[in-house]
Amino acid sequence: MNITVSAPGKLMLFGEHAVVYGYPCIVTAVGQRMRTTVDLLDTPDFIVDAQDVDIISYKKKMTELGIGAMPKGVQFVEIALANFSKKYQLQPGIHITMTSEFSSQFGFGSSSASTVCVIQACAALMGINISKKELFDLSYQTVLDIQKTGSGFDVAAAVYGGILYYLTGGKVIEPLAIKNISFVVGYSGSKSDTPAMIADVAWKREREKVKVERIFEAIATLTDDAKKKMEERDWERVGTLMNFNQEYLRDLGVSTEKLEAMIAAAKQVGAWGAKLSGAGGGDCMIALAPSDKRKVVEEAVIKAGGQVIDVSVSAEGVKIEKPIQEFKAKP
Ligand code: MEV
Repeated sequence: MNITVSAPGKLMLFGEHAVVYGYPCIVTAVGQRMRTTVDLLDTPDFIVDAQDVDIISYKKKMTELGIGAMPKGVQFVEIALANFSKKYQLQPGIHITMTSEFSSQFGFGSSSASTVCVIQACAALMGINISKKELFDLSYQTVLDIQKTGSGFDVAAAVYGGILYYLTGGKVIEPLAIKNISFVVGYSGSKSDTPAMIADVAWKREREKVKVERIFEAIATLTDDAKKKMEERDWERVGTLMNFNQEYLRDLGVSTEKLEAMIAAAKQVGAWGAKLSGAGGGDCMIALAPSDKRKVVEEAVIKAGGQVIDVSVSAEGVKIEKPIQEFKAKP
């Protein structure tokens, strides 16, 4: 028996880092998806194939799930499955095949999207009607088990899709009725180490608590304002708020020279606003520009050394792509 499930990647629009400390953020699911096929095996094996991250026929016994060393590329699916089995008793064996429409280097949330896919696929295969909140909780637990930190916004984007106003740990997950914003997305050429960036900010907060808390509060205020302005489709103001958000991120010390160059280039040729997206230290920047300026903004980002990625926003959340296929023995 097998099933194929997909979940979208994400881009943070407002509120990164502050959301780790109880403040809101705005995230969008993107058109690029992670796809996972799960086959039930009649042997007690756990097998993973994920060529995009160089995992070919990784194999261990189901009884060893989550035990011992595991390559980075299987960590999230293995712990996801271990958590799922603990809750729902999974048997006998599982073969997971993963493919992605986006590079794991971009910071689009490949780990959380694959976690969500595996749990959703296993639940469907076993006939368990898992709610979106249960799927979110088990997936977020998996991310915390591995990373020990993180707000869970990426898991929410993979589960619910759309554009979400989100509060730490999923205390608020509010879909925003916004469909067609068009961001220019530029990859800086280097992958961010999210847990390390979170640790850097935590260290800064430890040393300059008042200053950093003030920055978080200011980010929270502008994120709330951005929600309102996005709903009113006041894109010029949304762009200005992105610029303010970027200033605070720079103050937190998470921007890089490369990101700054790409952001400045986009603004110089007419973007309403631009900022880094995610943890900083690498990954992507996003710019918001009038449609007649889009092309020149893209060119400016490329000239500043970025790789422009074609991204659509507000994509659908996790979904079953191919329903359960039964393998019947030939008569
Ligand atoms: C990372 O993409 C965004 C952070 O806010 C971390 C998180 O929210 O989990 C830095």
